[in-house]
Amino acid sequence: MSEPERLQKILARVGIASRRVVEEMIEDGRVVVNGEVAELGQRADPDVDAIEVDGVLVGVRPDTVWYLLNKPAGVVSTASDPQGRPTVVQLVPEEPRVFPVGRLDAETEGLLLLTNDGEVTHRLTHPSYGVEKEYLAHVEGTPARGALRRLREGVELEDGITAPATAAMVSPGVVRLVIHEGRNRQVRRMCEAIGHPVVRLVRTRIGPLVDTTLGPGEWRPLRQDEVRALERAAVPTPPPD
Ligand code: URA
Repeated sequence: MSEPERLQKILARVGIASRRVVEEMIEDGRVVVNGEVAELGQRADPDVDAIEVDGVLVGVRPDTVWYLLNKPAGVVSTASDPQGRPTVVQLVPEEPRVFPVGRLDAETEGLLLLTNDGEVTHRLTHPSYGVEKEYLAHVEGTPARGALRRLREGVELEDGITAPATAAMVSPGVVRLVIHEGRNRQVRRMCEAIGHPVVRLVRTRIGPLVDTTLGPGEWRPLRQDEVRALERAAVPTPPPD
């Protein structure tokens, strides 16, 4: 646990706004601590207190890190590999220890998050939270309209039919696919099922996060506004009627 600090100091440090502006936000009743509207001068402990601004939980734990990595092909997204292949954790700083948020297959490229924030990791990877993931799938041949419709409406896989997805051709042989289930090898299996196996797969978006500037193997820390956007994206989807 850390020492309780004034709210304006905590919120200014994580980049919400300057201390003076945060004070105004507190006076306007926009800051809530553990469910109660905060008062000016109030202190909080960022390790234990839930602090919200405009109804959005703020990631204020100073020891929490988030990295966005452009994973190259041939690197596994587990913390260690029995076959001795390179792992994604070897591409980012060693300390503090971070873990990949979900998995990409060894041969899949593109955006992968790593963090030491276990709670948000759980929400981001759990299917009921429905965080969208977008992929560019380079496939064999060029799927016809009917095949794309199958991807959108649901494909029968051995572990059940897939949920509605977005699928569009971006160029001959390249499909942009947006899914939110995250089953094992899902995109590869969906494309295989429509008769167009994947030859190259790149993840281009995770919820609100995109980055076209990172080269293969490069990473960067998330900005605070990105962490907040991610937390907003990871809310439970209502159960179907
Ligand atoms: N779907 C796949 O088939 N592979 C991945 O790595 C991610 C999604």
